[in-house]
Amino acid sequence: MTGSGQHRIGVLLSGRGSNLAALLAACRDGRVPSPIAMVVSNVPDAPGLDHARKAEAPFQVVDHRQSSTREQHDRKVAEILEGAGITLICLAGYLRLLSPWFVQRFPDRILNIHPSLLPAFPGLHAQRQALRHGVKITGCTVHLVDEQLDAGPIILQSAVPVHDHDDEDTLSARILEQEQILYPKALSLVCEGKIHLRSRQEQ
Ligand code: GRF
Repeated sequence: MTGSGQHRIGVLLSGRGSNLAALLAACRDGRVPSPIAMVVSNVPDAPGLDHARKAEAPFQVVDHRQSSTREQHDRKVAEILEGAGITLICLAGYLRLLSPWFVQRFPDRILNIHPSLLPAFPGLHAQRQALRHGVKITGCTVHLVDEQLDAGPIILQSAVPVHDHDDEDTLSARILEQEQILYPKALSLVCEGKIHLRSRQEQ
């Protein structure tokens, strides 16, 4: 699957981009041994693009409202990524479902970070789901993306306690701190060719 060799990383985002900032920092100081060679946002004024600007990472906007189907949008994004020689894609707060076409185009080459211990609480508002369920431990997961929502093979997870007086904001902030540690770690394992898929298990 995610073989070793020199990778070029693409990041897709829609919003704040704190995970992008963490990945850029990790690339800068060598914890991730490959460059972020393209950032694509589907939202023209996504605040996360400022992190790309500051780091002088190449970025482009592909406004999804300019495409009539999900696949048409994804084909535009893929063309940009492939044009930049991207070999690994990190979703970082990318608020769009990927078309099957896109997932098949980059098999086992797309990573995502999700704010729960998957397979618990997939989909939107994972932190709210955790609070409503009453769990005492939640966390975050970096996984490979397949055609099912938040269901691909897990690379790394980090556990985060839920406190009695947490609300969605306090819990999200505690999870986010761990996300920013976990995502660079998982990405560096993939870049170094240390992740091998054997059925659903990898190490
Ligand atoms: C994070 O909580 C991530 O787990 C989820 O979307 C959020 C993105 O935050 N997929 P940011 O844009 O990276 O700050």
